[in-house]
Amino acid sequence: MIQDLPEDPQILDIGCGPGRQTIVLVKETHGTVIALDTHQLFLDEVEKRAKAENVDIKIITTKQSMADMDFEKQSFDVIWSEGAIFIIGFEKGLNYWKQFLKPGGYLVISELAWLIDDPPNEAETFFNEGYPDMKKIDENESIIKRSGYELIDRFVLPDTAWMDDYYIPIEKKLSILRGKYKGDKQAIKFLDASQEEIEIFRKYSNSYGYLFYVMHLPS
Ligand SMILES: C[S@@+](CC[C@H](N)C(=O)[O-])C[C@H]1O[C@@H](n2cnc3c(N)ncnc32)[C@H](O)[C@@H]1O
Repeated sequence: MIQDLPEDPQILDIGCGPGRQTIVLVKETHGTVIALDTHQLFLDEVEKRAKAENVDIKIITTKQSMADMDFEKQSFDVIWSEGAIFIIGFEKGLNYWKQFLKPGGYLVISELAWLIDDPPNEAETFFNEGYPDMKKIDENESIIKRSGYELIDRFVLPDTAWMDDYYIPIEKKLSILRGKYKGDKQAIKFLDASQEEIEIFRKYSNSYGYLFYVMHLPS
């Protein structure tokens, strides 16, 4: 979907976490990726992975907030952000990040959204607590348009993307952690919430999902 990048594209990966996608971005584009997060341990992990994959000269980590970034205007060919824009808010992120993109630059983000008009009550109540900004696909597309981007395409991540490398490993750890934190009310509450999230997904994953939006600014 992104066809016309220069030879060494400048890419900003916002809320990079431990950097799984950061490494892929470098390898796929042969660009330079700035990996931004507020959590130093994740940035350390990105650097470790980059070294192990021999792409460390193409990755620069930076500890700063997605809501207050110190880059020059129009610095990036691509801004990429998986599962993190909800922290600043979908519309606010789209508007604030725009100034850092070159004309014609791409913004690629993933965001949790309702896939159906009338989501089940139990799922809606659950996400109202943890993700109150969750919108329907059409609402997000209106925001993209009024924020000055052109939507190139979008797709929904498959259920396997949630289960195989995320919920299944978490679920395996939950029972071990329950033993370890027996009697610690706060920890058990957190583990219960994690289990509930997985149950909600099993029951209602046809009503919500991670949307991947690929958009760009007019040249
Ligand atoms: C759900 S994780 C997504 C990580 C990664 N993109 C992925 O998909 O695996 C959200 C990330 O945003 C980071 N984060 C939280 N608040 C932030 C902020 N204000 N600015 C930048 N990153 C932030 C967290 O440390 C975490 O790494």
